[in-house]
Amino acid sequence: MRSKMTFKKNILCIGAGYVGGPTMAMIAAKCPQYKVTVVDINEKRISEWNSGRLPIYEPGLDELVTAARGRNLFFSTEIEKGIRDADIIFVSVNTPTKTFGQGAGMAADLQYWEKTARQILANSDRDKIIVEKSTLPVRTAKAMERILNSNGGTINFEVLSNPEFLAEGSAVKDLENPDRVLIGSRETKEGLKARKELVDVYANWVAHERIIESNVWSAELSKLTANAFLAQRVSSINSLSALCEVTEADINEVAYAIGTDSRIGNKFLKASVGFGGSCFKKDILNLVYICKSYGLNEVADYWDSVVRLNEWQEKRFVLNMLSNMFNTVAGKKIAVLGFAFKANTGDTRESPAIYITRGLVEERAQVNVSDPKALVNAREDLKDMREGIEFIEDPYKASEGAHAIAVLTEWDIYRKLDYKRIFDSMVKPAFIFDGRNILNHRELFDIGFNVFAIGKAPLKHF
Ligand code: NAD
Ligand code: UGA
Repeated sequence: MRSKMTFKKNILCIGAGYVGGPTMAMIAAKCPQYKVTVVDINEKRISEWNSGRLPIYEPGLDELVTAARGRNLFFSTEIEKGIRDADIIFVSVNTPTKTFGQGAGMAADLQYWEKTARQILANSDRDKIIVEKSTLPVRTAKAMERILNSNGGTINFEVLSNPEFLAEGSAVKDLENPDRVLIGSRETKEGLKARKELVDVYANWVAHERIIESNVWSAELSKLTANAFLAQRVSSINSLSALCEVTEADINEVAYAIGTDSRIGNKFLKASVGFGGSCFKKDILNLVYICKSYGLNEVADYWDSVVRLNEWQEKRFVLNMLSNMFNTVAGKKIAVLGFAFKANTGDTRESPAIYITRGLVEERAQVNVSDPKALVNAREDLKDMREGIEFIEDPYKASEGAHAIAVLTEWDIYRKLDYKRIFDSMVKPAFIFDGRNILNHRELFDIGFNVFAIGKAPLKHF
């Protein structure tokens, strides 16, 4: 193992989650000259990062971590020591929606983030660069500076905003080849110097024209608004899916037709059961809260409607199942194929599958939940529901004796199942609700299924 002195810089990341772990693994892989340490208060998480079974599933991550771990990538619970040794500290702790007090249900809960700032202050004896990696409300850097500079000004902390744009399921690819890296700083001499230091880290593998520099507030706000724009596209296409279902227009054809306009573009136009994930909803609600706090109520209402539409889309899916299955699912077995909020991740935070499964169980259905990577999280999400749910990884077993299948995650394996075999094992009439539009609907109909997709006219045998 190389000694500490041989490293050019010590980089620390506080928060070993979906962002901290992969992001630091990439920096370590691309910058062998730096020592990269990731710390967390969660001992179990850290021991998993140090084991053969990482705490998160992400394609390509095992290889990345294994190659750098013990060389220049370290996972530890020694937060104070980590802070003392670090030149650059990334803060990547969670910033969930506040559940209490002022701004409950909307504002970002900054308690974890603030604890970190105080801990950095308490354990620093020299100048450091602090990088906001977490997604934070615009102007948070100001609060961070206030806390860090409450030491009487002997140590200089330069606060940068470097939001992360990776998407789960493609994190390694996104980190290796990002559309852009955004770095915001104060535009003072010290601010610009710190900005350059961080640019130099990324420049080890990211082309200069993809490293965007800005003032610190623009960087903070750009992160919230990038997520708001992405989510808005999903809500826009989902709103039209409802119109397609009653007019016999096909949402895939509409999406293709509008997406070929280069001004619109073809990405994020896949109609679905709804968007999930830990960030879209929380970040939009945070944006809404910020707008309201500045008295910009029309702007707040505009963005709020993106979230409302998404909730409606999830609700509509359950109601659609219910009304098409003769207005009752009580006592009927339903196989939910896919519980993760998107494919290639085990993450289930804000997954539409949570709402839909709960909705079906409330209607007294017996739900068999299946997923190749997310069953551990699914069990946790549904642990308060004692009856009406079984967790079965094998999709064939989950569908046996079922009245209906609901596909809620676009896992590749679900495209390739033997649906004739599944149909034969189900109760008739057999229903399939494709919440991701990934199946061959005509083929399913010909097998005998009654097929309901998002944004398409149903294919029914009655
Ligand atoms: P996460 O919950 O997976 O990880 C956060 C980690 O921080 C947890 O392991 C927690 O134990 C740790 N932590 C909390 N307080 C701490 C403290 N005081 N000291 C040390 N560790 C502490 O969250 P995440 O998904 O990695 O998200 C982190 C931030 O990044 C959020 O602001 C999120 O909005 C943003 N973000 C997330 C994604 C994503 O894909 N998940 C993408 C871009 C940005
Ligand atoms: C999203 C952003 O894409 C990232 O850039 C951002 O860094 C991240 O949020 C974050 O801040 O956490 P993520 O939530 O991991 O990433 O996944 P997405 O690919 O954006 O998908 C979000 C949800 O929208 C999923 O449920 C997905 O199935 C759904 N979606 C996406 C659709 O329904 N249709 C689409 O066309 C695209």
